[in-house]
Amino acid sequence: MPQATTQAAQSQRFSTPFAAAVHDGLTHAPQKELPSMYLYDEVGSALFEVITALPEYGVTRAEERVLNAHAADIVAELPRNVTVAELGSGSGRKTRRILEALCKKRPTEYCPIEISPTALQLCRRELGDIERISIVGYERDYLAGLAEVSANRKEGEVLLVLFLGSTIGNFARLAATRFLKSIRGMLKPGDSLLLGMDLLKPLDTLIAAYDDPIGVTAAFNLNLLARINRELDADIPLDAFEHLARFNPDARSVEMHLRAKRPVRATIRAAGLSVEFRQGETIWTESSHKYLAGEAGPLAADAGFTCSRQWLDNEWGFAESLLVAK
Ligand code: TRP
Repeated sequence: MPQATTQAAQSQRFSTPFAAAVHDGLTHAPQKELPSMYLYDEVGSALFEVITALPEYGVTRAEERVLNAHAADIVAELPRNVTVAELGSGSGRKTRRILEALCKKRPTEYCPIEISPTALQLCRRELGDIERISIVGYERDYLAGLAEVSANRKEGEVLLVLFLGSTIGNFARLAATRFLKSIRGMLKPGDSLLLGMDLLKPLDTLIAAYDDPIGVTAAFNLNLLARINRELDADIPLDAFEHLARFNPDARSVEMHLRAKRPVRATIRAAGLSVEFRQGETIWTESSHKYLAGEAGPLAADAGFTCSRQWLDNEWGFAESLLVAK
């Protein structure tokens, strides 16, 4: 039977997509895995906000510096009547300057697309006071949300899609191109995509950013197991797992795992699963690929865009690129 059919049939057995994803991920051989989108429940979203404030995690501050320094410049590159759609708005803080610069020119609609209702709420609270903004939130995954925003657009409106925070780095390279192509498929020529990419940097800096000394990142990662216990009637012993961040030089990515410190057996009732872990065995939860600034051009071209401008933060190593749909 083709795999897609098997998985679809399997998914129907579970009460939620989360239960189906946990079942598929923890039976995946030889490497167990869990999809990173499930890191961001209410607890996870709050922990991620703390990560962005850690001295070791320079990504968010670097992007804020770029956007704050160049908001007027970025807006000057855009046509007059843009609607802004943001993929994964998070708290919305980074986006503030750009939205202010746009709203100064004319009333602007801002459509944050988020699967986390908590993040949508935070972002409404953070940005709701900008003059002449109207916020229309979409509680959807990125592509479904963007399809809706695009379908709702009015005659003559141009879309600016924001894909910030180096979330593109959470896709493997081929998947990143494929994802940008899917975005391009929902856009018209002249629409644009503002893309944030974290750049390759020395190994110790990279590892510290994903394994901070006070353990916030570890808690963020371990919360995924706690969430499985909370939501899927499971008994995973959290103290048997530890957070692991390691650099994969071939992929140029930091890989995040949860590693079993001893042999573990657990039952996840809502996923219909009894699962065993060998000592040292890991669950792969996320990868964060690092780019060179020069890779934006070819990546854009492969996906049907032209990289028209790029702004850099050299203090940390971060690139913001404006890609225009061809
Ligand atoms: N998009 C963020 C990044 O790759 C997500 C992230 C930061 C993350 N720290 C993490 C994901 C720790 C899992 C674990 O930089």
